[in-house]
Amino acid sequence: MAELDVAPVEEFPPGSVKIVNAGELAIGVFNCDGDLLAIEDRCSHDDGPLAEGDWEPDECIVVCPRHGSRFDIRSGRPLTLPAYEPVDTYPVHVVDGVVRVVVP
Ligand code: FES
Repeated sequence: MAELDVAPVEEFPPGSVKIVNAGELAIGVFNCDGDLLAIEDRCSHDDGPLAEGDWEPDECIVVCPRHGSRFDIRSGRPLTLPAYEPVDTYPVHVVDGVVRVVVP
């Protein structure tokens, strides 16, 4: 396990999203109405850059920019086809005023 700094918490208000990298793993970190969440930035359908798609902060849903599958950011589960498998999720917490994501 390792932890990656995302941003100072005051610079990551609700509605924020940021992509961080751990080696070849890219992770999208979101502030959904105050909940800090992270999913793999790779769609389970065809490797689309999931966290670069439009997202709905109120619903905590991101839309894959490649073929349009909608994913629940809280669970990583797809809500619409063509994706049908979940993406990985990662714990996010705040340490000493910094948002951090825990990666395997
Ligand atoms: S790559 Fe995401 S829906 Fe196809």
